[in-house]
Amino acid sequence: MNAKHITDFISLADIPTDVLWDWLRTARALKEEWRAGGNKPVLRGKVLGMVFQKPSLRTRVSFDVAMRHLGGEALYLSPQEIRLGERETVPDVARVLSGYVHGIMARVFAHEHILQLAEYATVPVINGLSDFNHPAQAFSDLFTLYEHWHWQDLAGRHLVFVGDGNNVAHSLLYACSKVGMRITVCTPPGYEPRPHVVEEARGFAAQTGGEVRLTHDPQDAVRGADVIYTDVWASMGQEAEAEERRRIFRPYQVNQALVEASGNPNVVVMHCLPAHRGEEITDEVIEGPHSIVFPQAHNRLHGQKAILMKLLG
Ligand code: CP
Ligand code: NVA
Repeated sequence: MNAKHITDFISLADIPTDVLWDWLRTARALKEEWRAGGNKPVLRGKVLGMVFQKPSLRTRVSFDVAMRHLGGEALYLSPQEIRLGERETVPDVARVLSGYVHGIMARVFAHEHILQLAEYATVPVINGLSDFNHPAQAFSDLFTLYEHWHWQDLAGRHLVFVGDGNNVAHSLLYACSKVGMRITVCTPPGYEPRPHVVEEARGFAAQTGGEVRLTHDPQDAVRGADVIYTDVWASMGQEAEAEERRRIFRPYQVNQALVEASGNPNVVVMHCLPAHRGEEITDEVIEGPHSIVFPQAHNRLHGQKAILMKLLG
């Protein structure tokens, strides 16, 4: 498989390592071009349809602005408008939208709906988060680390995810294992990432020299970490479990003591945001010297540009 055969962006599991690196270098070039005065209008006349079943700040704004910077436009379709799978079927939405727009970016509850959109759309489909994964986030996170470490290879670096083994953790498992990074996912018992994702990631790691580890002990997990990463304890759609999760996840808070337990003075702290300060991460850490949370959020813009250029360009 090579870059020209990739027509959708559904999961990083589908993106070969050489393609991933081509996209990361594209994101770098697009960021440098933009900083030097602006991007070339390579998507002039193109429209991205953005279907949302859930709220969003970063994904919604960064895809929209990325389209504008590249000369195109984006159309925001709110949860109330499309009502994916309720007002009409997902295949019908995919087929109708394909006649109007050049690409569809969708944020859904059920991952199955992203797969259906991709199956029935005749234009590229980009996953803007599902209950299974969040590939656009993890892709731009790799870009953030690539930039943070001065455009050095990422192989051998160790990312420790502390929190819920959910959508963001799944995409980080694929992202890290594809580029030869070590990843440890540290969760409370019962909140581990899905076994098939762990197995797939171990398969990728076996080819790239990476490593995939699961644990329940945060102090032990972070020892020697280059990156400590966390996400909310209750994701969108899990609000009813928030109280119970606050109790279960409390020992997994990324606080100053945990950052220090890494023993690495250069460790960086990441969070996909939105953050629930005082729950999964403290104010002290998010505002502290190890945090790269805001550059990370800003880099969503440059990550999206690379994805859009590769799929819609
Ligand atoms: N990280 C992220 O995807 O943020 P939004 O939910 O605001 O898009
Ligand atoms: N796990 C979080 C990620 C938000 C970007 C959620 O699904 O709500």
